[in-house]
Amino acid sequence: MPLHILITGANRGIGLEMTRQAAQRGDRVIAACRHPDDAADLQKLAAEDGLQIDIIGMDVADDSAVAAAASQIASTITGALDLVVANAGQMNARGGLQDPGHTQDNIAASLMTNVAGVFFTARHFVPHLRAAASNGGTNNVAKLAVISSQMGSSTRAGISAPIYRASKAAATNLARSLSMELAADNIAVGAWHPGWVQTDMGGSEAAITPQTSAAGLLLRFDELSMQTTGVFEDYAGTPHPF
Ligand SMILES: NC(=O)c1ccc[n+]([C@@H]2O[C@H](COP(=O)([O-])OP(=O)(O)OC[C@H]3O[C@@H](n4cnc5c(N)ncnc54)[C@H](OP(=O)(O)O)[C@@H]3O)[C@@H](O)[C@H]2O)c1
Repeated sequence: MPLHILITGANRGIGLEMTRQAAQRGDRVIAACRHPDDAADLQKLAAEDGLQIDIIGMDVADDSAVAAAASQIASTITGALDLVVANAGQMNARGGLQDPGHTQDNIAASLMTNVAGVFFTARHFVPHLRAAASNGGTNNVAKLAVISSQMGSSTRAGISAPIYRASKAAATNLARSLSMELAADNIAVGAWHPGWVQTDMGGSEAAITPQTSAAGLLLRFDELSMQTTGVFEDYAGTPHPF
């Protein structure tokens, strides 16, 4: 059965590719991005024949913007979502303590996007997920997927990008907490490492393409159930230590 899916950060990278592959398999995708007017690749994709993609503006770091987008979707597109993918993320400095990129503004933007953004997205779209779960959903379950990173795992501590690592540790932790809070609503929650992916963030030397990552992630979201809620694994389904 085709799904209703919301994906944040859908204008480029892994988010754009998840949008493409989900729409190509017949799902209806609400593609959220900060600047729809500048999202040329996403607009081109949404214009392709046979694909159901609605583009909406949403900065996940802005609580009121996420709230406004959630009510706009409920009144104009759908009040029920089978899957919400919190994908939007930022890495604003790659060096250690003395990297000048670790400005107060950059740190705030990383934490507000990678941590609070997941929280705001969950908070304002839980009603849509609850509606899908109570309508039958996929096996009576609706799903929240958090795109985190193995760089946030304490088992993979390293000397690069400490703020990004800390933000992704928090994102994974948040997913686990939300899996507990939302279990009573039949909303399953998972956190995923998408692989080291050839995007603006991952760089051209990265190990896998956005196509491989997105294909794996969509399969993982399909597999997620109330039995596996709280999972942290990679795009290929290998469990990941927290
Ligand atoms: N690539 C990798 O190797 C890798 C590895 C581990 C985890 N990840 C995670 O995977 C996710 C996607 O990464 P990517 O590689 O596709 O990165 P990317 O190519 O840099 O794309 C990041 C996306 O997030 C959006 N975004 C950033 N801040 C936002 C905000 N405040 N509100 C809404 N959207 C925002 C960007 O929108 P704009 O165009 O407006 O900036 C863009 O669409 C991220 O969470 C990232 O941390 C990536």
